[in-house]
Amino acid sequence: MDTRPIGVFDSGMGGLTCVRQMIRLLPGEDIVYFGDTGRVPYGGRSVETIVRYARQDVAFLRSFDLKAIVIACGTVSTTALDVLKRENDLPILGVVQPAAKAAAKITKAGNIGIIGTKATIRSGAYEAAISALLPEAKLTAKACPLLVPLVEDGRVHRGDLVTERVVEEYLAPVKAAGVDTLVLGCTHYPLLMDVISDYMGAGVTLIDTGEEAARAAADLLTRQDRLNDPARNGLRRYYASDSAEDFAATAKLFLGKDISDRVERIAIENY
Ligand code: DGL
Repeated sequence: MDTRPIGVFDSGMGGLTCVRQMIRLLPGEDIVYFGDTGRVPYGGRSVETIVRYARQDVAFLRSFDLKAIVIACGTVSTTALDVLKRENDLPILGVVQPAAKAAAKITKAGNIGIIGTKATIRSGAYEAAISALLPEAKLTAKACPLLVPLVEDGRVHRGDLVTERVVEEYLAPVKAAGVDTLVLGCTHYPLLMDVISDYMGAGVTLIDTGEEAARAAADLLTRQDRLNDPARNGLRRYYASDSAEDFAATAKLFLGKDISDRVERIAIENY
């Protein structure tokens, strides 16, 4: 047993889709979450900037004694995972490998769509990971830069005409390619599950990358016999680089509960 907390981070709120699944799969685990809400979005930035931000995010999380870190961010996982792994002596999990595994397993026709931020699609990381598992797969990738700001602004519901229009425009080529599986390569996107699935149709399976990463973390800790007592109720603490009140208000949308007494603002530039 290892009673130390798991660190989880994202550029903003999106990683909470992963935390939600971790709470379900790993109820006994303590979690320290950092959302870089002062600098979100990362997805339109250069590799150098994303790596610099990611290093600071990890340095902050490592001010706690952690047993593992989950990068609950497609952009950081596709762009900075190798650097972070090289520089840190604890297990660091990204979302790419778990999501690629799920997509390769679920697809019937080997026709898979991938959506993510500009940086994620530029990296080609999902394509490489899926192709390694399923070399004959046909892949269609599309950057969707406006989706993160829409989610951060709470514009996630069916009937939101702006969101529906943006989703339609981005996903038209992916739908036209006839994919049967769509990797939501950014952890913000599961909030748009209804709108995306209405547009893509019932025959397309959506892969929630945060959920797959949570499952991978559960598998790893189980295999290594490093789970905390599953009968206890894990303690979760949340940190943000911008207003704690705003974080708590938006977190309600992601977690379905009020966490305002557990959010603190930190100065990420000091790490
Ligand atoms: N949740 C992040 C991701 O998975 C959002 C990226 C961003 O900040 O642009 O890519």
